[in-house]
Amino acid sequence: MSRIPTLADLGDVRGKRVLVRTDFNVPMDGGVITDDFRIRAALPTINWLTERGATVVTASHLGRPKGQPNPKYSMDAVRARLAELAPGVELLENLRFDAGEEGNDPAFVAKITEGIDLYVDDAFGACHRAHASIVGPPKALPSAMGLLLQKEVEVLLGLRNDPKHPFVAVLGGSKISDKLGVVEALLKVVDSLVVGGAMCFTFLSAQGYPIGDSLFEPDQVATCKRLLAQAKAGGKTIHLPEDLVGVDAKGQFATFGRSLPDGAKGFDIGPGTAAAFSDVIMDARTVFWNGPMGMFEDPRFEAGTRTVAQAMADTKAFTVVGGGDSAAALAQFGLDDEVSHVSTGGGASLELLELGDLPGLAALRGAPNAK
Ligand code: 3PG
Repeated sequence: MSRIPTLADLGDVRGKRVLVRTDFNVPMDGGVITDDFRIRAALPTINWLTERGATVVTASHLGRPKGQPNPKYSMDAVRARLAELAPGVELLENLRFDAGEEGNDPAFVAKITEGIDLYVDDAFGACHRAHASIVGPPKALPSAMGLLLQKEVEVLLGLRNDPKHPFVAVLGGSKISDKLGVVEALLKVVDSLVVGGAMCFTFLSAQGYPIGDSLFEPDQVATCKRLLAQAKAGGKTIHLPEDLVGVDAKGQFATFGRSLPDGAKGFDIGPGTAAAFSDVIMDARTVFWNGPMGMFEDPRFEAGTRTVAQAMADTKAFTVVGGGDSAAALAQFGLDDEVSHVSTGGGASLELLELGDLPGLAALRGAPNAK
């Protein structure tokens, strides 16, 4: 298998026009960017190229406009922020305004690469999409992964292939069905799995605990039973909550043990569980965290996620946080600088951990300058 070309493999970039595919899919509120992390994360690559005399043209998707121009998803706010951070760098209009992007249409590839000499993929968060701007340009142009993509791949494949043990994966969020593949893959490499978030109710139900009216996926109960048995057979532990916080049948804030009465809903792990999960994280040498422990947007149900985030900051382990909600939680608690690596990709980080490869990486390996 050829290696993925890096920026150095582009040769002399002076005077060249370089298309840099970035993931500027930033959270917005009423046209205002609420977190520019993904824009700042692309700066090392942009600066590397401009400092060496290249002209950089960036391109990204924003949201899911479904192949139609839509002012709600225009790149104007991103372009304005980019102009402050990297003056003189061009940014194309939202790639997903053209159906050719998601349809991987060669005509759209030709359109975005017209007048372009070199291609750089730094859009880790979109590398699991076989879209035109990700897999098309490397077919024809000398290409490379940018510095952000390179770091993401090193860190995440490092977790998959050669983690320091004990290796603990902390998983939360609402749906086990979204994370099934990665749970199976992680069970092969981790020493233990810590499960919080609404996902825990499907596991608790699989173990026979009453879960009241909590969110769960009845069609995944059998899968959870299988995962619990698989973990046991492999000598791995799946840590599940011992206590829970939520609301009772009257909608009042309440704390529970492992069993929830009829009508009650669990929205966070309880303090005993948060302390136990913290201990597991503190004793680990590698920790991967994806998905909040509860509904942390509501101050009544943020304590479990906050405690886990704090343990991620305090442990001496190598700590990696998957993108999306857990990264947002970390930022909300002001702890984003306290972990070893915050991934810019939500879906992409899970897919890379699960499969060990992504369409965007495979495309770069096939570029004309790949050795
Ligand atoms: C993300 O936000 O995870 C990436 O930008 C990919 O976005 P998508 O899920 O809309 O493809």
